[in-house]
Order: sequence, then C-alpha cells, then structure tokens
Amino acid sequence: MAEFTLPKNSKIRKDGKVYKADKTATNVKVFKVYRYDPDSGENPRIDTYEVDLDKCGPMVLDAIIKIKNEIDSTLTFRRSCREGICGSCAMNIDGTNTLACTKAIEDIKGDVKIYPLPHQPVVKDLVPDLTNFYAQYASIEPWIKTKTPPPPDRERLQSPEDRDKLDGLYECILCACCSTACPSYWWNSERYLGPAILLQARRWLADSRDEATGERLDNLEDPYRLYRCHTIMNCTKTCPKGLNPAKAIAETRQDLVKRKV
Ligand code: SF4
Ligand code: F3S
Ligand code: FES
Repeated sequence: MAEFTLPKNSKIRKDGKVYKADKTATNVKVFKVYRYDPDSGENPRIDTYEVDLDKCGPMVLDAIIKIKNEIDSTLTFRRSCREGICGSCAMNIDGTNTLACTKAIEDIKGDVKIYPLPHQPVVKDLVPDLTNFYAQYASIEPWIKTKTPPPPDRERLQSPEDRDKLDGLYECILCACCSTACPSYWWNSERYLGPAILLQARRWLADSRDEATGERLDNLEDPYRLYRCHTIMNCTKTCPKGLNPAKAIAETRQDLVKRKV
C-alpha cells in the first residue's frame, strides 16, 4: 500500500531532537516520531529515539510507553486497553494506519516511523482531533430503533441466522484507521461519512430487530454521505480488525437499488 499523506499541520521542521540509547545497549531500534505542540506556535518536527529492545515489550505501543516513561515524558498519545479492543492507539506506523498495541516491532524493517492518523487536524503529537468523526457517528443514530412494542415478558429475540448477519460488523472498534486511509474521506470529510461510519450504519441496517431501515437508508441516500465511496479499498486493506468496510458499503448501495425497483 502506498504511504499515506501526512496529517494536517504537517510542514515539518528539520531540527528534530535525537535521544541516544545507553552505550551498553546491543539491540537498539530507532523510532522516528512526529511531534507537534500547538501551544509552541512552531511547525511539527520528527524526534528520533533509540530504544533498547532487550528492555522493551514486543509491540510498538510498548516502545512509545517506554519512551514516555524513561526518555521523554512530553510525548503524547492515546492508549487504554493494550489489546486491540478500545481503538484509542490508532496511528500511522511504517506507512500504514494500525493499532500500536497490536503492531509487533519485529515486523518493521529499518527505522520505525510513527505519525498520527493521516489528514486529520492534530491536537498534539500522535493525537488526532476526531471531533468530526464522532459527530458523523452520532449522525447515523447508532442504537436500535423500534416502532412495535416489545414482548411483555422477554427481550426482543433474534434467530441465530439473523445474529450471524452482524458478524463482520459488530467487531468494529471505531479506531478510524479505515476512514483516515480513504482518499475520498481526506478530500470530503465534512460531507462524506467514510468507511468506518458506513460500516457502523450497516451494522444497524443488518440488525433484524431494528425497525427504522427506511429512515436509515433515506439518511444515507445522498451524493456525499454514501456515494463518495469510489471503491478505492484502502479501508479494507488497513483495518486492523480484519473487517471489510468496502463490502458493507456495497451492501448498503445494493439495498438502495433494491428499494427503487
Ligand atoms: Fe477500525 Fe476496522 Fe472499524 Fe474501520 S472498520 S473503524 S479500521 S475497526
Ligand atoms: Fe474509501 Fe474504502 Fe470506498 S478506501 S473510497 S471507503 S472502498
Ligand atoms: Fe486499545 Fe490499542 S490500546 S486498541
């Protein structure tokens, strides 16, 4: 996959700092990390950290936590679960959007280059501003909507076959790796919902218990919100959970065609 373009506010200064490893270290890996502090009024720079892998966990997140704890406490990034569940450590590593906590350092040849998710405003260092992304998520009303009253004595049931229709959709952790890998989203992120939100929209369309299918399709039937997908497929290639947003988008398009005929 081609390397993605840099994040917004990305005119890089040439005077990045270099933090050398201890001279006794024998298993050193170089990490080149995007640094941006809006309060400084200066352009971003790339800092270089030498990390002794003999004293570091196996994942990229282990390395940047070690950098923050032992080398440079000013390095800023999001993380929580450390096991690919929360989606907060999504960043661009070695040219690909992925989760730092599930990306093994040993799988990266040469220096490890780390940037924030591409083409988003940057809050600080590796933290992108996902305000627009979350607003778009809210816009699809991601909850079950019903019109009929629930059964008086039990929850709304779903057959195993209908439950299976949610596989490949419910696992999405909203990390935004796919949307920020999508060129259509880069250029139209104000109006195009992007692959992550469209996969989430599919999750509710596919739910047999939901009774708002018509409204949900109305909400998506728009030249920008859905139809700015041009099947570029970066989304599916980059998803760290192995999901297929492009397929979800295609299925929603088919639903829109079907209801017209
Ligand atoms: Fe992340 Fe994959 Fe969900 Fe996109 S589809 S937000 S890449 S988990
Ligand atoms: Fe973008 Fe994926 Fe469509 S990369 S254009 S959402 S197939
Ligand atoms: Fe939760 Fe990486 S820290 S997905």
